[in-house]
Parts: sequence; structure tokens; C-alpha cells
Amino acid sequence: MAKAGPASVEFRNVSMRYGAVTAVDNVNFTIKAGELVTLLGPSGCGKTTTLRMIAGLEIASEGQILIGGKDVTKLSAADRDVSMVFQSYALFPHMTVLENAAYGPTVKGLSKADAARMALEKLELVGLKGFEGRYPSELSGGQQQRVAVARALVLEPQVLLFDEPLSNLDAKLRRRVREEIRELQQDLNLTVAYVTHDQEEALAVSDRIIVMSNARIAQQGAPRSLYEEPADAFVADFIGDANLVDVTVRKVAGGHADVSIGSVTVSLPARGLAPGPARVAIRPEALLIGEAGKPGALPGKIRKCAYLGNHLDIMVETEVGELFVVQYGAREMLEPGLPVTISFASSGLTLIPSA
Ligand SMILES: Nc1ncnc2c1ncn2[C@@H]1O[C@H](COP(=O)(O)OP(=O)(O)OP(=O)(O)O)[C@@H](O)[C@H]1O
Ligand SMILES: [Mg+2]
Repeated sequence: MAKAGPASVEFRNVSMRYGAVTAVDNVNFTIKAGELVTLLGPSGCGKTTTLRMIAGLEIASEGQILIGGKDVTKLSAADRDVSMVFQSYALFPHMTVLENAAYGPTVKGLSKADAARMALEKLELVGLKGFEGRYPSELSGGQQQRVAVARALVLEPQVLLFDEPLSNLDAKLRRRVREEIRELQQDLNLTVAYVTHDQEEALAVSDRIIVMSNARIAQQGAPRSLYEEPADAFVADFIGDANLVDVTVRKVAGGHADVSIGSVTVSLPARGLAPGPARVAIRPEALLIGEAGKPGALPGKIRKCAYLGNHLDIMVETEVGELFVVQYGAREMLEPGLPVTISFASSGLTLIPSA
């Protein structure tokens, strides 16, 4: 069995068209060997199509795809060293856990004993030793998911693909299994392309995130840079919550901008903007509620307040529109109609370079 080790993946100007539908439009990215990169975006933006092109399950209409520096654009799935974990797991219901995990090597023509040995090794890795004889229907969702991972790992592919692998699991299990996948990826030094539409999941597991919107890449980068420096309003709103507020840039000097948010002026990194109208993305936790009449703060009025255990979700009416505020820690509920002020934390606000 070839053990080529993890390989990089590169897309050069790749498009995929189905008749009149452009599912992926001139996309460029690189996943380095041993990296976990997430494709994140809303339904229909082209995530699955992108994965299927890496796997060779779809052949790109245009552009070039390289795996480990080698052009695989026209190679079929069988000729690429790539495995995919599907959203539905796609386990064979009539096969045991062991037979499912041994499926790949069996199809490749290995002896039954060799295939079983390889499968057992991977089942042990995902914590399923002792479950070999069960059928998928006798497993929990999380266990089935791990069988699917073992089955994908068994051939030690150069690239491993996950298409929304956690969508069938409940919230607690989702968190645990995503951490398991991340640990496995790091321990085994795997190249992984991971698809999700859940921004929190993407932030939690990724080395880098590629945000897709309408068949194109909206922005790519490290989780933190996407959250703190979104390139546009779509990314600001999709990665975490954001209040998008119309503002005026008064003055730019030394890379900093004086920005009027209603009657309050703050200084923010200019991000290449010139004086004039602009938009700011403000994280809900960067808005601080104070007593009415506080100088240098935006006057406002509580509209709604919801108790969510460890935090309050609060809507405040202000001169720049309705703002969504999150307050952590034990706090009193704020009554609708109560006059307050809003001031701004020193981080969690950013000018948006393109509207
Ligand atoms: N075989 C096909 N024929 C025609 N159109 C297709 C085909 N496969 C996908 N599409 C279209 O291409 C676009 C991208 O689809 P894709 O499955 O890649 O989206 P996605 O980002 O994975 O969405 P989701 O989060 O809902 O799974 C969609 O508009 C979809 O309808
Ligand atoms: Mg999909």
C-alpha cells in the first residue's frame, strides 16, 4: 500500500458549470500539506462541488487542480489518492463495522486478513475497538460518524475530505466529535478539506477558512483575521454576529481614521479607506450599555432583553439604528423603554473596506 504522506491541494482559476448554472466560479486557493482548511458558506454557494472536484467525482469545466504539485485536473476519482467522508456517512447497513472499515482495501484487492488488520488499526484510532462485530444500526450517530472516518482513513489518503460530517449529531456531540477530528488531523498530520456552513465549527477546527458566497471566494485567511478584519459586509456578518452601521470617516492620518458613529467619534484602523461615507462592523460584545446621560456615548432606549443563561441578548434603539448587544456575566434584566447609553469597547469594531 502506497504511503505517500499528506499532500497539498491547489486550485488555479477553477470553475464548474452545469449547463447555465455556475456552481464554482474562477476559484483560487492552496491547502498546504498537513493543514486543515474549511470551506464555509451558505447553502448552495459551491462547497460540495468544490470538494467533489478535489475528489475527482466532478471534473472541472475550467482551470487546473494540483494535488501534491501534480496536475490531476483530468484524473478520475480512482486515480487520485483522496478519500471523502460524506454528510450521510453512507455506511453499508448490511456490513459490520469491521467490514465497512475494511471496504477500501478489500476493493483494492488486498487479502481479507490484511484488509481486516488495517481496518482494526484505524478503528482503534477512532476509539471503536470492541465494536467490530456490530452493524451500523447498532451504533449511535457519533459512533457511525467515527466508522465513516475510519473507513476514509484506512487507505491513508494524501487528502481527506469531510462534507458537513457533523450535521446529523446533536449540539453536544458535535462539539466533541469536531474536537476528535481536529486532534486526529493534527496527530496524523493529515491534509483535510472540511465543509461546513456553521461558522463556530469553522472557527474551532481550522488552520485557515475559505469563505464562499455565490460560487466565489469572499475571503480566505486564519480564523482570527477573518473575525477581526472581515473584507466585506458578507464576511463580517457570516463569521460571528455583527452590527453593520453606516458611519462617516472624518479624517485619515497615520493609518488611523476618525469615524463618526452618530454623535460619537472613535478612532479605528483606516484599512485603506478615505474620508466619506463608510460602514463599520461592530461585534455585539463590543457594545457597552451605560446609564442614560453619560457624556461621549450614544443615547438609546432598550427595546428588547432576553435571558440566555450565561448572557443577555439586548436590542437597543439608537440614532444609528437598532443595535444588537450581548452582555456576559450575571446581570439584571433591562426593561423595554429604559433610556441608556451605548459606548464602544477598544476592540470588536472594524471599518469594512468594501461595501
Ligand atoms: N449536478 C448538478 N447539476 C446542476 N446544478 C448543480 C449540480 N450540483 C450542484 N448544482 C448547483 O450548484 C450550486 C452549488 O451547489 P453545492 O452542492 O456545491 O452547494 P453547497 O455549498 O454544498 O450547498 P449546501 O450547503 O446546501 O450543501 C447550487 O446552486 C446547486 O444547485
Ligand atoms: Mg453541500
